[in-house]
Amino acid sequence: MFRSGSFVIAVAGSALFAIGVRGKDNGLAITPQMGWDNWNALGCDVSEDLLVQTANLIVDYGLRDLGYHYVILDDCWSSGRNASSNNSLIPDTTKFPRGMAAVADDIHALNLGFGMYSDAGRYTCGMYEGSLGHETVDANSFAEWGVDYLKYDNCYNEGYAGNQLISSTRYRTMGDALNATGRPILYSLCNWGEDYPWNWGSTVANSWRISGDIFDDWDAYDARCPCEGPDAWNCELPGFHCSVTNIFNKVAFIVSKAQPGAWNDLDMLEVGNGAMTDPEYVAHFSMWSAVKSPLIMGNDLRDIAPQDLSILSNAAVIAVNQDPLGQSAARRWLCHGNGTNGESGGSGIQLWSGNLKGTVHEDYNDYVVLLVNGNNNATVMNATLEDIFVDSGPRGHAPQVDMSWEVRDLWAGRMSNETAQAIIDASAVASNTTNGYNATTITSGGNATAIFDNRYNATAMSYADGLAANNSILLGSVTTTVQPSGTLTANVDRHGAAMFRLRAIPTAVRKRDEL
Ligand SMILES: *[C@@H]1O[C@H](CO)[C@@H](O)[C@H](O)[C@H]1NC(C)=O
Ligand SMILES: *[C@@H]1O[C@H](CO)[C@@H](O)[C@H](O)[C@H]1NC(C)=O
Ligand SMILES: *[C@@H]1O[C@H](CO)[C@@H](O)[C@H](O)[C@H]1NC(C)=O
Ligand SMILES: *[C@@H]1O[C@H](CO)[C@@H](O)[C@H](O)[C@H]1NC(C)=O
Ligand SMILES: *[C@@H]1O[C@H](CO)[C@@H](O)[C@H](O)[C@H]1NC(C)=O
Ligand SMILES: *[C@@H]1O[C@H](CO)[C@@H](O)[C@H](O)[C@H]1NC(C)=O
Ligand SMILES: *[C@@H]1O[C@H](CO)[C@@H](O)[C@H](O)[C@H]1NC(C)=O
Ligand SMILES: *[C@@H]1O[C@H](CO)[C@@H](O)[C@H](O)[C@H]1NC(C)=O
Ligand SMILES: *[C@@H]1O[C@H](CO)[C@@H](O)[C@H](O)[C@H]1NC(C)=O
Ligand SMILES: *[C@@H]1O[C@H](CO)[C@@H](O)[C@H](O)[C@H]1NC(C)=O
Ligand SMILES: *[C@@H]1O[C@H](CO)[C@@H](O)[C@H](O)[C@H]1NC(C)=O
Ligand SMILES: *[C@@H]1O[C@H](CO)[C@@H](O)[C@H](O)[C@H]1NC(C)=O
Repeated sequence: MFRSGSFVIAVAGSALFAIGVRGKDNGLAITPQMGWDNWNALGCDVSEDLLVQTANLIVDYGLRDLGYHYVILDDCWSSGRNASSNNSLIPDTTKFPRGMAAVADDIHALNLGFGMYSDAGRYTCGMYEGSLGHETVDANSFAEWGVDYLKYDNCYNEGYAGNQLISSTRYRTMGDALNATGRPILYSLCNWGEDYPWNWGSTVANSWRISGDIFDDWDAYDARCPCEGPDAWNCELPGFHCSVTNIFNKVAFIVSKAQPGAWNDLDMLEVGNGAMTDPEYVAHFSMWSAVKSPLIMGNDLRDIAPQDLSILSNAAVIAVNQDPLGQSAARRWLCHGNGTNGESGGSGIQLWSGNLKGTVHEDYNDYVVLLVNGNNNATVMNATLEDIFVDSGPRGHAPQVDMSWEVRDLWAGRMSNETAQAIIDASAVASNTTNGYNATTITSGGNATAIFDNRYNATAMSYADGLAANNSILLGSVTTTVQPSGTLTANVDRHGAAMFRLRAIPTAVRKRDEL
């Protein structure tokens, strides 16, 4: 455990942070990567039009300026290898008539990054050509095309797995090939948590998947995603069709592995794909944000409902994900299903909390508190300061327990359906009048200015700078305070979450030597 609680508390100025451990040394993903990938919503139904239209919508909807940077093309884009060209991959010309470099150019013109997909095996999961044994030529193609991100899968790996050395070597080969191109390419390792990638992933890649593929469901049992339940993590068979709850339970044991440049990847978001309730999507987005998972949207932006755009646009929650400390929240307790209310079951209630960078007092960081209700009834949840700050001192005696804290509800400022709908409508009008998707029209269109008025713009000011400047969109407004030794209480929806930022109340802060 190289990131102990005492390390965390000692991070006062920036000096310690600057020499802190970093992940892969390509300078990327210093905060978790954000973007969009077509797989969850559209699978193999990929094309140039899909990517370019989506890239324009990411800009129109203000999502680029909230940090969603990478437009990622998943599986099913190639049509074999070219024997007269070093066996390089051939893009499918039906789906990508202008080739990949032209798509990259269009995406770059919008100030977005372009991601692609391959597989550390004989074939990709969709049975297209894989990159095993072709790492150099494929990395060179990606670099030549202007690719900024590679998602690298694990299907058909021909049995080159089974221990950490074999798996890490197979993935390192591509990492080295990407590095050798000289182009900084974010490397997203996707071996579903096989062979403990959290142990070796930080020296190989910028993120590693920790589980089988996500499925658009809160907590459904599915035999294809074995290794179920709140204490399951060591999964020899990762499977797929894993619920949000299943994956979240698995990350609880490895949160300390997340660090700048190297993140636990809980898989792409399902927000907006239609099978979960609004509170479930709110909880899903909150959970992924709190543990510093990459935030990769997985819905079809051409058909987005306003309430889903509103979730994906919550800058106060994204600011937790993009916090400059880069530390995951940790689970403090879990009460198993049927918890305290004895109602109709469910996956239990959980308290998570963790450090955020603070600017109020040099000794005390802000803190994130996440209350997750997996039970089948809404419930009042209670988190004591002792439990929230259990890492910050001897149990029950952390100095923070003796302080007063502002409680800032990070969902209180959620965008209304009406505003989200107005943003969607403005984009449709702008694209229509110019006979095609045109990114520049939305921000210049009169009413759009008003729509974006009260929104955070991370392109204009980074999350780190906005937090340091006490930007109210990021911090939210104070809803209540917790007194010394007090309890934070929240009414949490069935299959929902409440998420707060705690800030030390300056007048109540005492110097350590006075304690
Ligand atoms: C390649 O790796 C070296 C260190 O091994 C690092 O300094 C450099 O930035 C990397 N380059 C790219 C393009 O990732
Ligand atoms: C094949 O690879 C070699 C070595 O990297 C390179 O010099 C050559 O130009 C490549 N040929 C083609 C057709 O891309
Ligand atoms: C294969 O590579 C050769 C040599 O670079 C090129 O002329 C040809 O167009 C390529 N074929 C396909 C199908 O891309
Ligand atoms: C939860 O409570 C319900 C209703 O009392 C009961 O039927 C069910 O068996 C309980 N489940 C567990 C896991 O205890
Ligand atoms: C629990 O939820 C069920 C259905 O969701 C509802 O019928 C029941 O009244 C709820 N119980 C309580 C105590 O709220
Ligand atoms: C939280 O505290 C309230 C008030 O004491 C109590 O009614 C409620 O049952 C508690 N919630 C849980 C989940 O224990
Ligand atoms: C937003 O729209 C959704 C779907 O129609 C609805 O369930 C929700 O209540 C709406 N929210 C508000 C605040 O109106
Ligand atoms: C786009 O233009 C067509 C034809 O002018 C019109 O019928 C349609 O309503 C327009 N759609 C939007 C969203 O403005
Ligand atoms: C986008 O629209 C603006 C304003 O209508 C126009 O000046 C610009 O040429 C258009 N760009 C493209 C690529 O169509
Ligand atoms: C501007 O957008 C608002 C909704 O945000 C709408 O109520 C208003 O009618 C719009 N004004 C114009 C001129 O389109
Ligand atoms: C965000 O700020 C950038 C840079 O100042 C600007 O180009 C962009 O239009 C802004 N985005 C929105 C949605 O206002
Ligand atoms: C931010 O707010 C805190 C607490 O009110 C205050 O101590 C600090 O000086 C503020 N920072 C800036 C840059 O305004």
